[in-house]
Amino acid sequence: MLLHLDASARRSSFSREVGDTVAAAWRKANPESAYVHRDLTLDPPPPIGEAWTELCDYVLEHQITDPGRYAEAVRTPEQAKAWALVKPLLDELVAADAVLIAAPMYNFSVPAVLKAWIDQVTFPRMSLAGTKFVVAYARGGAYGPGKPREPFDHHERYLRDFFAGHFAVEDAVFVGSEMVNALIDPALAGRRDEHEESRAAALAAAARIGSAL
Ligand SMILES: Cc1cc2nc3c(=O)[nH]c(=O)nc-3n(C[C@H](O)[C@H](O)[C@H](O)COP(=O)(O)O)c2cc1C
Repeated sequence: MLLHLDASARRSSFSREVGDTVAAAWRKANPESAYVHRDLTLDPPPPIGEAWTELCDYVLEHQITDPGRYAEAVRTPEQAKAWALVKPLLDELVAADAVLIAAPMYNFSVPAVLKAWIDQVTFPRMSLAGTKFVVAYARGGAYGPGKPREPFDHHERYLRDFFAGHFAVEDAVFVGSEMVNALIDPALAGRRDEHEESRAAALAAAARIGSAL
């Protein structure tokens, strides 16, 4: 099963374009497999509350590592409410063979809806080793190796550290368009070619990544 998450606040979006290209290629190559699409902006997960932290503490204290046993942590009506919210998100994550996350860079990091999803589904010492992760991104500027803004990238760097540190996934694939702001910001008009090149390369790579996933 492919789980495809969207996190851009806008419909006409470069991260959605790259993500949709990965998904279309994957669906063509895997016509028999299930495909689940969740638009985090249409149905945003709420920030975690106190009852969620109680579930998490119980799981840690009792050394529960199998998500199939997390429900044992539910002891109060508030915790049941928190668990009812987490369960469908977690079920589809755990069932996925591959997870595709389309995520713009917002303020050097990930959109709040994606961070809220991460906070809801992540429990101590869980492992998704073997699940493939692809991030389809878009950024207003350029953050590649050697670029002046490289140290400000808390988007790819954060997600790589998160996948490795919390999901035991070291080989996430990143593909995306940069310099999108050149289309809007008159001060960056001279860099539109850079954006077009980045976008074309991202779409070509996205199709390859989707068929090989
Ligand atoms: C709230 C917000 C914050 C943004 N912050 C940054 C940023 O820190 N760095 C950057 O390069 N671009 C930033 N951008 C530009 C987006 O990354 C760019 O428009 C990208 O294309 C958005 O993805 P989308 O096309 O999938 O919506 C920001 C855009 C928004 C709406």
